[in-house]
Amino acid sequence: MNYPTPHIKAKPEDFGQTVLMPGDPLRSKYIADHFLENPVLVNNVRGVQGYTGTYKGVKVSVMASGMGMPSIGIYSHELYNAYGVQNIMRIGSAGAIQPDINLKDIVMAMGACMDSNWDAQFHLLGKFSPICSFDMLRAAVESAEELGAPYHVGNILSSDYFYGDDDGVPEALSPKKVWQKMGIMAIEMESAALYLNAARYKKNALCICTVSDQLVRNEFLSADERQTGFEQMMKVALETAVKLEK
Ligand code: HPA
Repeated sequence: MNYPTPHIKAKPEDFGQTVLMPGDPLRSKYIADHFLENPVLVNNVRGVQGYTGTYKGVKVSVMASGMGMPSIGIYSHELYNAYGVQNIMRIGSAGAIQPDINLKDIVMAMGACMDSNWDAQFHLLGKFSPICSFDMLRAAVESAEELGAPYHVGNILSSDYFYGDDDGVPEALSPKKVWQKMGIMAIEMESAALYLNAARYKKNALCICTVSDQLVRNEFLSADERQTGFEQMMKVALETAVKLEK
C-alpha cells in the first residue's frame, strides 16, 4: 500500500515501530505533551492527531483510533500496510462486567470477542478467535507488575453498540449478563478489529483499558479520576514500548 493514505498524511519514517492508540485525538495530544520528549505532529487528517517523540530514548508514536471497529480498522490497516508499523497498542477505556474488577483497574485483553460482523471480510468458514500478541502482553504484564498497577488479563467484548436497544429484553438475556457468564472482563468497542488486522497482516497488537465504568455496580469514574487512572495505564504502555524495542 502506498503513502500518503486517505486518512494519514505522513511518511513511514515519521512513525516508530510501536504506535499507542487512544480513542480520543485530544488524548493523543495530551500524551505527546506530557509523556514524550520532542514530540512532532506527524498526522492531522480529520483532526486525528498523530505524534512521534521519544520515551527513555525509544522512538514512540501516539495517534488516535477514533471510536468503534470501522475507525480503528482503517487506521490500523494504513499504519500496518503503508507505514511499516509493527506494534499497535490500544490504550482505551472499558466498562467492567465482572464484580471483582474495580474502577481504575487495567484490563489487558488476551482475547477479544465481538458482536460485530467485521470479520466477514476475511471469508472464513468458521469463527476466528481474535487474540493479542503474546510478546506485547508479556511486556505489558511485566510493566504493570513493576509499576504496581492493578491489572487483569483475560477476555473482553468488542461491541458495535454503546446504546443497545434492551427494551423488553429480560435481564437474564442482557448482553452484560450473558457475556459475564462467559467470563468476559469488560466491554469496549475496538479491539477485535485491531486483533483481526494484526493477524491478517502478520503484525502485533494489544489492547489495555482503564476501567472507567463498573457496569455491575453502576459506578463511574469522574472526569478527574479518569485522568489519574489513565496516567497509570500510559506508564504501563510506554514501558511496554521500551521493552518491545529490546
Ligand atoms: N461500553 C462500551 N465501551 C465502553 C464502555 C461501555 O460501557 N465504557 C467505556 N467504554
